[in-house]
Amino acid sequence: MQTAMRKGTGASYVKLPFRKEMREMGNENDNLKTAPAKEPERTFFFMETARQYVADLAEKKGSPLTCCVVTFGCQMNARDSEKIRGILTEIGFVDTKSEEADFVLYNTCTVRENANNKVYGRLGVLHGYKKKNPLMRIALCGCMMQEAHVVEKLKESYSFVDLIFGTHNLYRFAELFTKMLLSDRMLIEVLEGREEIVEDLPTKRTYSFKSGVNIMFGCNNFCSYCIVPYVRGREVSREPKEILREIEKLAQDGVKEVMLLGQNVNSYGKNLESPVTFASLLRETAKIDGLERIRFMTSHPKDLSEELMDVFAETKIVCPHLHLPLQSGSSRILAKMNRHYDKEHYLTLVQKLRERTPDISLTTDIIVGFPGETEEDFLETLDVVEQVRYDSAFTFLYSKRNGTPAASMPDQIEEEVAKERFQRLLEAVQRIAAERAERLTGQTLPVLVEEQNKQDASLVTGRLANNAVVHFPGDASLIGQIVPVTLTECKGFYYVGSRHA
Ligand code: 5AD
Ligand code: SF4
Repeated sequence: MQTAMRKGTGASYVKLPFRKEMREMGNENDNLKTAPAKEPERTFFFMETARQYVADLAEKKGSPLTCCVVTFGCQMNARDSEKIRGILTEIGFVDTKSEEADFVLYNTCTVRENANNKVYGRLGVLHGYKKKNPLMRIALCGCMMQEAHVVEKLKESYSFVDLIFGTHNLYRFAELFTKMLLSDRMLIEVLEGREEIVEDLPTKRTYSFKSGVNIMFGCNNFCSYCIVPYVRGREVSREPKEILREIEKLAQDGVKEVMLLGQNVNSYGKNLESPVTFASLLRETAKIDGLERIRFMTSHPKDLSEELMDVFAETKIVCPHLHLPLQSGSSRILAKMNRHYDKEHYLTLVQKLRERTPDISLTTDIIVGFPGETEEDFLETLDVVEQVRYDSAFTFLYSKRNGTPAASMPDQIEEEVAKERFQRLLEAVQRIAAERAERLTGQTLPVLVEEQNKQDASLVTGRLANNAVVHFPGDASLIGQIVPVTLTECKGFYYVGSRHA
């Protein structure tokens, strides 16, 4: 039996019920020993090996194997899932949305406790499917797997899971998948830090015309409530030339919109051997032929530079939308959150942005019920919401994450108090968002058509440059095109439009 001890928490095995078909797949070791040491060659080697095993299993089954990759959490997880799907489809799986598949992978999130609970709940259902399908394999990856207590719980109570890996070794998926097929035990490989950034692995994009692009990994900020720096590790930027090469290829492949992804894109490039700014990366990206829209996520207010504000004003294809998480409007709470800005600084940033780009859409994240938050602190948050007038906001109840500084702060807020504040915040956010959206009613604006409407097949759904959703009559031939649409009616969260009004 192969072992895969690596630095970090290392790999280990938990015995799973013996499954005959895996044993029948022959002597793994001779073959696997010849794997090249270097990436991406190593990945391609394991993809080739896995392809043969998958073909073999499909023959036994009498039809192609199916896979279902489920993403929890943020855009970065969504992008990671595309990479996993890319490998799975290349090795012979047929991608499906049904979790009654031959291989199901949950790419997990752990930013709030309820994200974890969802995974445990759904694993119970998967176990039921697995009992009916002896071929079925279940894998878990992503942020939740970086927490030792989660892996312990899975080992003890969810031994039907076949493969567990973390955020730092996603690039090893092809190898881990192959070894999982050949093993009759739970394979676990979770590393503490990123070893390398592997470029040029296959991906399967969810949309042909838009794509996320990782520009950096990890986070150095240690906001006191947040678990991300512990599970995603320290900040590492990709080289600009690698990023631009990837985007050029995407543009040649028909991608019109890219979203540059990082936990804090405003500090992109600071730690590269030859440092570059995020603003300069945006300017270079904007020169790429064929690209029509550039978005990015997420910006930390403490690192938002004047140079970046200028890029919005100067560069037409950078979408006029900024997601600028506030978290709290109270300077006292912001200090306890370790956010490195105060209410006044945040409001000044908004003012400067609007001076340069008057119609910019602003969206945000806000946490309610952080330890020690008083009614006065909460009213400061409401005050910022009223002053800034966000186009939309994600509002969260504070969730205690073990291991973060905030988890051991005194004065944890009672759930009832936090929920009542949350309701008041939601009411303000929704009222203002609907009022803001009204300003565009009647205008004719370019819409990138994304999909056929899920409820009404005579409609298509797309997005304005500012990210607002528009539904209008049209057929599937419009998908991927940017077309002018008159916004005839505003429904608060979205618009109804027509092409020839
Ligand atoms: N509780 C509630 N919300 C959180 N976020 C991050 N950590 C927590 C937590 N412990 C929110 C922040 C962040 C968004 C991605 O998730 O608002 O911007
Ligand atoms: Fe978490 Fe703060 Fe980093 Fe965002 S910037 S991922 S909230 S630590």
